[in-house]
Amino acid sequence: MASSIKKIGVMTSGGDAPGMNAAIRSVVRTCAFHNIKCMGIYRGYQGLIEGDLEEMDARSVRNIINRGGTILKSARSQDFRTKEGRKKAHETLVANEVDALVVIGGDGSFTGGMVFNEEFGYPVIGIPGTIDNDIFGTKSTLGYDTALNTAVEAIDRIRDTASSHDRLFFIEVMGRDAGHIALNVGVGAGAEEILIPEEDMGLDRLLESLKTSRVSGKTSSIVVVAEGDKIGKNVFQLAEYVEENMPGYDIRVSVLGHMQRGGTPSCADRVLASRMGVKAVETLLEGKSNFMVGINNDELSLTPLDRAVKGKSEIDKELIRVSEIMSI
Ligand code: F6P
Repeated sequence: MASSIKKIGVMTSGGDAPGMNAAIRSVVRTCAFHNIKCMGIYRGYQGLIEGDLEEMDARSVRNIINRGGTILKSARSQDFRTKEGRKKAHETLVANEVDALVVIGGDGSFTGGMVFNEEFGYPVIGIPGTIDNDIFGTKSTLGYDTALNTAVEAIDRIRDTASSHDRLFFIEVMGRDAGHIALNVGVGAGAEEILIPEEDMGLDRLLESLKTSRVSGKTSSIVVVAEGDKIGKNVFQLAEYVEENMPGYDIRVSVLGHMQRGGTPSCADRVLASRMGVKAVETLLEGKSNFMVGINNDELSLTPLDRAVKGKSEIDKELIRVSEIMSI
């Protein structure tokens, strides 16, 4: 593959996600395979501004495919939002003779990459890494599968104790403004109700549904609530509301929180990360840039970064219907 690109920088940016290390490994090894250099940039765009980077070779990424988090660390850089910050970042790249950038992160990180590309004509490729799965142009983001499994396992444990004590549990899961985690985890864990930002269920319907569950003979129930749910109450307020309006229920709340972001990546995330890393580097070597690598129908695809950022990742409506049937 003859290309003018001789050195590629790789960074992780935004909220970390399991599988990011596997993606770093893939980018570094694909560079080595094609005999080009690779620079690891620490703490995302902030590290780029501060010149915090070092060369990585194939051996420097050994024993990380199985590790959660990111060895390059991550950050949400405020400085990169300023023109001055981006100018410094560009200077770091020029000074270190880095010809192109692979950014592993979410939509905020891609917006940064896009603006950078517009301002300096600098080649950027994105790899979607976020547990939220809220990126247009890919069926799955890195870390999503692992986070689903982590959350389902946690809820299975809560189910044991909920059932022993005949309790109603409200369980909050992550996902920022998207309900992908809540919907899939809710179906996978057999929740009675799933509250997601994309569908405003309303408080009355929630009470109605819980009453129906009780009448149908259910002694314990699980309600999965997306952190971005728009019902107008947080998970604790929701629990209080139900307690006031449905006396007799013994209610508990559990917020799964950042445990969903950590842990060893699933096999699916490791394989996806390996495939996306190869595609990202080879796309740059083919002279293309300003795309995000995605996966659709098990095939890798390229989506222009602006579309990835502006597009909306739709919730699976059929899965909502499935969840309603399952919670009868
Ligand atoms: O985007 C990943 C995510 O974990 C979201 O699900 C959550 O809303 C947010 O990051 C939490 O961010 P922080 O780690 O900065 O609290």
